[in-house]
Amino acid sequence: MHAPLLAPSILAGDHAHLASSAAVVESLGLSWIHLDIMDGHFVPNLTFGPQTVADLRKGSKLFFDVHLMLAEPQRYLEAFAKAGANLISIHIEPSIDHADTLRRIRALGCQCGLVLNPGTPAEAVRPLLAAVDLILVMTVQPGFGGQPFRDDMLPKIQQLATWRREQGLSFRLEVDGGIDLRTAGLCRAAGTDTFVAGTSFFKAPDKPAFLRAIAAL
Ligand code: DX5
Ligand code: ZN
Repeated sequence: MHAPLLAPSILAGDHAHLASSAAVVESLGLSWIHLDIMDGHFVPNLTFGPQTVADLRKGSKLFFDVHLMLAEPQRYLEAFAKAGANLISIHIEPSIDHADTLRRIRALGCQCGLVLNPGTPAEAVRPLLAAVDLILVMTVQPGFGGQPFRDDMLPKIQQLATWRREQGLSFRLEVDGGIDLRTAGLCRAAGTDTFVAGTSFFKAPDKPAFLRAIAAL
């Protein structure tokens, strides 16, 4: 299993100063940042698009973990790759050709990931586990930060971790939504290695202590 990795979600930062939020993450010595892209269709909220990602890229060396909450993600792959995404994750729920979309993400020079909403069973991504660099288990219904963690997602994480081990695969297992030090501990015990944290990270009074605690999980 990979060492614990913290990916702060810029969704919880100040959207008039996103570059400052990214700079806070980089100045702490972290390597990843999580960028939530919402289209108002797949989820009932809007965030920002490729231009914002490209402008953040100019001032940042962070690994951009781009989470596409889009009804038609296949239409925007080139734009986000060109903008500087390092990893692009797409949801399994839209009726698209996922295998082809993942191949296209790889062909654009990015790592690729698949995301499951809370209501989607682990079985939905099982045929594609060998085709991804990351599986993201949503631990809230996507669309908004600051929601409570759903501990009924823990068996799903355990199942995915089991299949990863059984199949000798090495994709990252990421969680997103309601992650704080307590819930990250639960997810770590279930097999998670990559922790998205929005509210808990940006509100943490002592950020170095927060990231030390994640690293020690
Ligand atoms: C939710 C987003 C998350 C969000 C998590 O739709 O995918 O990345 O930023 O926020 P917190 O950590 O506040 O639950
Ligand atoms: Zn996210």
